[in-house]
Amino acid sequence: MSLSFQHLTSTKQLSREDTDAILKISGEMEDVLEKGGSDLLADKVLAALFYEPSTRTRLSFETAMHRLGGKVVTAVGMQFSSLYKGETIEDTMNVVGRYADIIVMRHPEQGSADTAASVSPVPFINGGDGPGQHPTQALLDLYTIQKERKKIDDIHITMVGDLKFGRTVHSLSFLLGLYNNLRFTLVSPKELTMPEKVTSFFKEKGIEFTETQDLEQGLDADVIYMTRVQEERFEDKSEFERLKLKYVLEAKHVKGKDITVMHPLPRIGEISEDVDPLPNAAYFRQARNGVPLRMALLAMLLGKA
Ligand code: NCD
Repeated sequence: MSLSFQHLTSTKQLSREDTDAILKISGEMEDVLEKGGSDLLADKVLAALFYEPSTRTRLSFETAMHRLGGKVVTAVGMQFSSLYKGETIEDTMNVVGRYADIIVMRHPEQGSADTAASVSPVPFINGGDGPGQHPTQALLDLYTIQKERKKIDDIHITMVGDLKFGRTVHSLSFLLGLYNNLRFTLVSPKELTMPEKVTSFFKEKGIEFTETQDLEQGLDADVIYMTRVQEERFEDKSEFERLKLKYVLEAKHVKGKDITVMHPLPRIGEISEDVDPLPNAAYFRQARNGVPLRMALLAMLLGKA
């Protein structure tokens, strides 16, 4: 199965055919994982360039590559490396793209992924560009919704927290726009509302959405997607302190209800630990879904699926 693109920088570039194929191959990768892995990508090298901290994204990409028999070269804390030293992203891509067969990059600047993809000699994947996009997180979120709810159409999803700077909710909103009869409740402080680029997309597509500051109004959803207030995007730290724990989801909000609780993680207190033992708590399963999803994507972009 092939994809309609060579580089993945944004969920806006995905078609329904792409997501159908990615979700299907992710399911097949669960069987590969069950067997402990395969050698599908034995002759391939992934370069992982992280200019910003990452645990889940980096480790799940590395795990995915290893499970398919591939190799990984990683550069973290890039601002301290000799490659960086003021080098342009274009030059870095031109160098690293001559070492590796595929590149994943996380970078603090919005738009950096498009710059990288425009010159990369090998397939390029955006692992998060500042407050912009995080397409592989959105794909694993989509895969999680499908697994947890057994459907993606006709879902009411409540997104909570830092909808302004949280790139995962931007990417996921665009991706869910490929499906039918979705409804969004957007819960955030007024300082951290969903950007216009997303709300205008909802309007264009005729997608129903409600914006509120009240968490209680979002509790009749099928999925509640909690997010962390993105401390690193605040110039004024006192503003961050004031907004950081405006919404905390507790067991009493979801216990006994048919609501799936998701979070891209890390959580910094937004979900109380008393939610963890409940069947509603899907966030650790969600993190684990990143492995088969990224296995699928790596194999497909490398023309091996
Ligand atoms: C997210 C990110 O980096 O945008 N984390 C992740 O990739 N799982 C969410 C976050 O950092 O809040």
